[in-house]
Amino acid sequence: MRGGETAVGGEFDARQWRKRFPVFENKIYLNSCSYGAVATDVRAAYEAYLTDREREGSYWDHWVGQNEELRASIARLLGATPAEIAITASLSAGLNALVSSLDFSGKRNKVILSDLEFPTVGQIWHAQKRRGARVEIAAREGGRVPIENFEALIDDETLIVSITHVSYKNGARNDIPAIVALARRHGAMVMLDSYQAMGTFPISPQTLDVDFLAAGVLKYLLGSAGLAFLYVRQDMIGKLEPLATGWFAQKDIFAMDHTANEPADDARRFEAGTPPVPNVYAALAGLKIIHEVGLENIEAHVRGLTARVKQRALDEGFTLATPTDPAAHGAMIALKSTDMVELTQRLEREDIVTSYRDGNLRISPHFYNIEDDIDATMAALVRHRDLLA
Ligand SMILES: Cc1ncc(COP(=O)(O)O)c(C=O)c1O
Repeated sequence: MRGGETAVGGEFDARQWRKRFPVFENKIYLNSCSYGAVATDVRAAYEAYLTDREREGSYWDHWVGQNEELRASIARLLGATPAEIAITASLSAGLNALVSSLDFSGKRNKVILSDLEFPTVGQIWHAQKRRGARVEIAAREGGRVPIENFEALIDDETLIVSITHVSYKNGARNDIPAIVALARRHGAMVMLDSYQAMGTFPISPQTLDVDFLAAGVLKYLLGSAGLAFLYVRQDMIGKLEPLATGWFAQKDIFAMDHTANEPADDARRFEAGTPPVPNVYAALAGLKIIHEVGLENIEAHVRGLTARVKQRALDEGFTLATPTDPAAHGAMIALKSTDMVELTQRLEREDIVTSYRDGNLRISPHFYNIEDDIDATMAALVRHRDLLA
């Protein structure tokens, strides 16, 4: 094993893990920033869901139990408590519940975003303008948003700073500690969108000192679409009462009381209706693998692979849309393209799966990728260099 593939403790073996992901029999899969590869364990979990339904008919006690097991698994991943985790159908759903609990009627009603946000996050905050929110965006320069651009916007009228951890556009990693320190200095809350980061390196909302953190399970956590989560720090939960709610957000779900709204004491108050049961099965199986592999191992391995992509790209004279400093990017490396759609399609015709956004080709390795995947992809890019900027 080369340096980049050396695992923490020396026990991690990407080639062994890869055997559980049949897509590699057909494809070079480098698109985990869009959707993680499906593991045989996750397929078995979907099948178990159907088997349980056929065998048991309805199986609600078990399903509620599975949902709680998932909550505990997500909490463990974050070093949080299960009471701080809401399980939602999408990141958007969790964020909508959260923003519905905020008050924009006072002088402290500014929302500060970065220029690297996923559209849904910006759109949800902009929708709050009708409720009095003032939304401002810290501009990016090159691939990143300089801290000075946050400094210019965050002030004592800032209610919340809502930022992406790693950008879906180019893989740039925001300087979270610096931004949080700024927000704290002005008494503002912080909401972190960790969707493009979760599952690729250890993340502790407590250490990062954020109030809220949201992500979903379909990318680097190997789960399914239709399942996401929202972390709400313990001391914030009781202060926030969502307007977006439902029976699974109640203190006693099975009280079946339509005459009142009594939100749960824990982060379940940010949930809504019936949990996405099949996705819960898949998410549990995906997360089990992530726990087994270990986030430190994943981080070390992915770092080696992203370093290889950057080096090869620079050697070939391609233009990186991602900052080169390893501390300033996540698991995805983006290359500027003159026709990102055509380039992605040409790679697809060679059974290399990548994706595009914002004028860039996105290459996003995970723990199941190996150096051969990178080398084959870079060799293909050399053949298609007419489409690289
Ligand atoms: C950074 C980021 N945030 C949010 C989302 C979307 O979340 P959802 O569709 O679950 O609302 C994505 C999806 O790609 C994302 O990459």
